[in-house]
Amino acid sequence: MTFDVEVIRKDFPALNRLVRNGKPLVYLDSGATSQKPASVLDAEREFYERHNGAAHRGSHLLSEEGTEIYEGARATVAGFIGADENEVVFTKAATESVNLVAYALTSSVKAGDEILISEMEHHANLVPWQQLAQRTGATLKWFTVTPEGRLDIDTSLITERTKIVALTGQSNVTGAVPPIAEVTRLAHQAGALVLVDGAQLVPHHPVDVKALDVDFLVFSGHKMLGPLGLGVLYGKYAALEALPPFLTGGDMIEVVRMEGSTFQPPPMRFETGVPPAPEAAGLAAAIDYLGGLGMENVAAHERALTARALDALREIKGVRVLGPDTTADRGGAVAFDVDGVHPHDVSQVLDELGIAVRAGHHCAWPLHRALGVQASTRATFYVYNSREEVDALADGIRYAQKFFGA
Ligand SMILES: Cc1ncc(COP(=O)(O)O)c(C=O)c1O
Repeated sequence: MTFDVEVIRKDFPALNRLVRNGKPLVYLDSGATSQKPASVLDAEREFYERHNGAAHRGSHLLSEEGTEIYEGARATVAGFIGADENEVVFTKAATESVNLVAYALTSSVKAGDEILISEMEHHANLVPWQQLAQRTGATLKWFTVTPEGRLDIDTSLITERTKIVALTGQSNVTGAVPPIAEVTRLAHQAGALVLVDGAQLVPHHPVDVKALDVDFLVFSGHKMLGPLGLGVLYGKYAALEALPPFLTGGDMIEVVRMEGSTFQPPPMRFETGVPPAPEAAGLAAAIDYLGGLGMENVAAHERALTARALDALREIKGVRVLGPDTTADRGGAVAFDVDGVHPHDVSQVLDELGIAVRAGHHCAWPLHRALGVQASTRATFYVYNSREEVDALADGIRYAQKFFGA
């Protein structure tokens, strides 16, 4: 498949929609959730139409097929990030994946230990660590951000007391990509585990967990063209094996007696309840789609759109982009402040023009405070976005300024 946005767009039924008095939809909110290509919708539909048996349950044909599809999807996910199949755990979302690790670490973290995060985290990779610190008496520490929205790596924060470093792979606000491999090396030297929040990294860049050497990587299917309701926890096998279960119930057990139970090895130890096989089938189709495009090409496309957006927004008086001004170590999330116009007003005017963006603190409140704003408007780009849509965003911002007399 060549990278032709006009061809790609045809694969996404929702992008054909007209919105707000017949305007074409300009979808610039993929950072919140991506649109889905027909192949993903077909994969889910086919599961329900043909194979709708509970995976890992009955011994009848449909259940067997369900199991094959579910486990096939696990292999596809593993291949996509360079992991082994037994290192991939399916969860509900990236948020649940972080919570799983944070809860499972409860008995191995004690008072005096340190948990290191950063000021640029999404609340999903922040609140669970606050909670772990509260449960255990450990101390929560964090890297701050530079005025440009980059991670300020104060290496003195990594000490022999650091138990886990949990860091975003790409900010959902500034697009900044921290030097994960470097932080991981330092954390490992200090004997700490590393968890990377890949919710905004894995959908947009080639990722090889073996090269990054992280202990855990979390991400969500719905931000990478897949269905809602399915997330991934990658863990090095030894790191997963060291964790107790998080959610307990059917299928994750080995032997159950009234007095107590024993548990399966990973990844099954962490998966209970009837598996979301249709969603897994959808995610596998999404990964096939991204694989067909080539993740290097996906990243290059987004880099070009981001460069265009940064250039266009720089030209608009009264607009401040939050985050790096160049595309170096930066992904396609462009959050900005329009002087004199509240982000919700900006987004409402853009919405009237058919342009979908996000307004607010984007679940990254501390980062906004650190950057000196309460909230921002955010555009995020993906495989189906065009240069014309970036231009429409810039025109829309100018229109909003005029509308509010800013
Ligand atoms: C950086 C980052 N981490 C975690 C999440 C949480 O993802 P989910 O809501 O799919 O669990 C998001 C969602 O916006 C995100 O942008």
